[in-house]
Amino acid sequence: MSEDPSSWQNPDFVAKFLENVRGAIPLTIEQIEVMLQLITVARGERIGTFLDLGCGEGVLADAILAEHPEAHGVLVDFSEPMLEGARQHLKAHSHRLEFLEADFAQPAWVRRVAPHAPLDVVVSGFAIHHLPDARKQALYREIFDLLTPEGIFINIEHVASAIRWTESKLDDYMIDAIFGKELKSSPRKSRAAVARDYYARADQDANILAPLEVQCDWLRDIGFENVDCFLKMAELAVFGGQRPAE
Ligand SMILES: C[S@@+](CC[C@H](N)C(=O)[O-])C[C@H]1O[C@@H](n2cnc3c(N)ncnc32)[C@H](O)[C@@H]1O
Repeated sequence: MSEDPSSWQNPDFVAKFLENVRGAIPLTIEQIEVMLQLITVARGERIGTFLDLGCGEGVLADAILAEHPEAHGVLVDFSEPMLEGARQHLKAHSHRLEFLEADFAQPAWVRRVAPHAPLDVVVSGFAIHHLPDARKQALYREIFDLLTPEGIFINIEHVASAIRWTESKLDDYMIDAIFGKELKSSPRKSRAAVARDYYARADQDANILAPLEVQCDWLRDIGFENVDCFLKMAELAVFGGQRPAE
């Protein structure tokens, strides 16, 4: 059987994502900055253990480790090529990291992480939108149960648009950013060719986007407090909430 070209288990797909797409995501620095500030507001300067769910190469974990030199990280992904990228990328911090290959589409992932709980912080970047909505909700409940009282969950996520304009705004940003990188290579693709490839990209069918307000309501229903969207540009949002104090 041939390997799914849009699979996170496929090393070529992963390499293309890291090379072309991750760096093109608009407001990456601002999203990470907001995440770091929220962690400090919720948990102060010293945090114990954090979880990066769907860690990819560990972009979010890297930022937390730099800001919190005593923190321990648990990095979860179901893609071995991604986890290997994260191990390499975060080599300097390996003594305070645990890498777990687990699929958060299945409730069993919790058992792998539970020995490291309770967690001060759970972050996730552009990973949970691959799940059907009912499973997203169940996962948010599982995250809630792993958090310590006043622990914080921050999801940097691709969310659904109410109107096509918002979706096309993000498409334009992404195409421009990928084309901007293309300008530095030779031979290089035209913007039209970049746009064609972007609209035909292999992974878009794997996106199951849910509206931001709906997801915030799910968090409130589960029991999270201080739920809010802390930054949003087109379909990219930073949202989350805190487990209440006991
Ligand atoms: C778009 S990448 C983002 C990676 C990283 N969080 C970042 O912000 O750069 C999505 C990641 O989620 C992982 N992922 C997707 N579905 C998953 C699942 N069901 N269980 C575990 N990891 C998953 C993929 O393997 C991939 O590494």
